[in-house]
Amino acid sequence: MTDRILIVDDEPDIRELLEITLGRMSLQTASAKDVAGAKRLLATEKFNLCLTDMKLTDGDGIELVEHISKNYSQIPVAMITAHGNTETAIKALKAGAFDFVSKPVDLKKLRNLVTSALSLSQKDNSTVRLNGEVEHNSGPSITGQSPQINKLREKISKLSRSQAPIFISGESGSGKELAARAIHDNSARSAAPFIAVNCGAIPQELMESELFGHMKGSFTGAEQNKQGLFQAAQKGTLFLDEVADLPLHTQVKLLRVIQEKSIRPVGAQNELPIDVRLLSATHKNLIIEVEQGRLRQDLYFRINVIELAVPPLRDRQQDIPELGLAILNKIARENDAPVCELSNGALAALHNYSFPGNVREFENILQRAATLCEEDIILESNLEFILATSASFISTETQAEVAPAVTANSNVELDADFSLEKHLESIEIKAIEKALIETRWNKTAAAKKLGMSFRSLRYRLKKLGLD
Ligand SMILES: Nc1ncnc2c1ncn2[C@@H]1O[C@H](COP(=O)(O)OP(=O)(O)OP(=O)(O)O)[C@@H](O)[C@H]1O
Ligand SMILES: [Mg+2]
Repeated sequence: MTDRILIVDDEPDIRELLEITLGRMSLQTASAKDVAGAKRLLATEKFNLCLTDMKLTDGDGIELVEHISKNYSQIPVAMITAHGNTETAIKALKAGAFDFVSKPVDLKKLRNLVTSALSLSQKDNSTVRLNGEVEHNSGPSITGQSPQINKLREKISKLSRSQAPIFISGESGSGKELAARAIHDNSARSAAPFIAVNCGAIPQELMESELFGHMKGSFTGAEQNKQGLFQAAQKGTLFLDEVADLPLHTQVKLLRVIQEKSIRPVGAQNELPIDVRLLSATHKNLIIEVEQGRLRQDLYFRINVIELAVPPLRDRQQDIPELGLAILNKIARENDAPVCELSNGALAALHNYSFPGNVREFENILQRAATLCEEDIILESNLEFILATSASFISTETQAEVAPAVTANSNVELDADFSLEKHLESIEIKAIEKALIETRWNKTAAAKKLGMSFRSLRYRLKKLGLD
């Protein structure tokens, strides 16, 4: 069946331009000049996409985005915004718009957008892969059935249907990259590349050439034209990990890429149109990075349109047995060895541990345990939770932040009392206090910031004697 597009704009000229352009793509269109007209058409006809202007005579495009998200959630909506009006574009994405195009409408960009949106309807039946199913050409699946993980999966499934830039927050090793991959795998872009870049690992002087490519001879050593990562990810997804580590001058360029949807390779005359969905992550607190001048505020607003918080493992302990099983299965497969089992004692010990290094640390603990255990049964004594080991999973900043707290407590005897538990508590207290101060003691907001439930925060405040 031919796809049908709903066009909503108060200007007859724009409606006509869009009708002609889409008609040339062999698509059917219907047009409305205001919100009321659009609502009427939506109620009586089937559409695969809606393109709406922002300013309409009887309301605005956001209202329509909200109406469609609520009543026809399978129809992607794209917003047409005034040139350079970033605020509106962000508002539209937050309200659930699939993407936006700015005026004057660049027809090539419009065609890209329409193609992406329509390929979504073919993905309608896809859901985020559940535990254990191995699929070709896609990353590992997200394990766990805790409410937090189910919510994460649901949110990923929803976010996969949009083009909005997403900022993925979460502690080290909690599964940020896994989440990014899942968003890609469930999106209309899944057949195109998913490229993950660790911005902290690229030498600063090579950053722009790595991201945007370069022309032969544009600097000493540039012997060939080189494609950048944005081009390599064309039609797919680019995951900028540790995005706060980008040098400031690269941040300016990145901002431009996001706004213009085009890149200019180092040394090139012209810009190239780019169709890449941007996901980013860092274990740092972006607000602090902005406050301290390491991250441009305008870039922060652009990459942080929608935030996806990956919960730490200690907040979803009920996932421990299932995760353990999945990890031990993986270890056995990799080593071509029998699958080890966790004894009840080992499980209990894992439940009592707070995993500062999250799932990655869990993997490491089980890797060691699998080599130490006898008869394929992992006992509590095979698990090594050594402070030194776990601290190495904590980012260096966290360690630095925590150090004074530990010293301040050191008039408390440094014997058995100075346990891993105490050390972790001091990390927790610091993080909670910081979140509370930043949210002016709004516990709901603080809990959200910390990626935990309100109940869980309340419980911890009590436990740590902070309430
Ligand atoms: N829910 C989960 N189910 C199964 N495996 C998981 C889950 N979460 C994380 N992992 C595994 O844990 C490891 C770390 O995950 P990932 O690399 O996504 O974390 P990260 O948050 O990006 O870490 P970092 O902050 O260090 O970059 C990976 O091997 C990943 O497959
Ligand atoms: Mg990562």
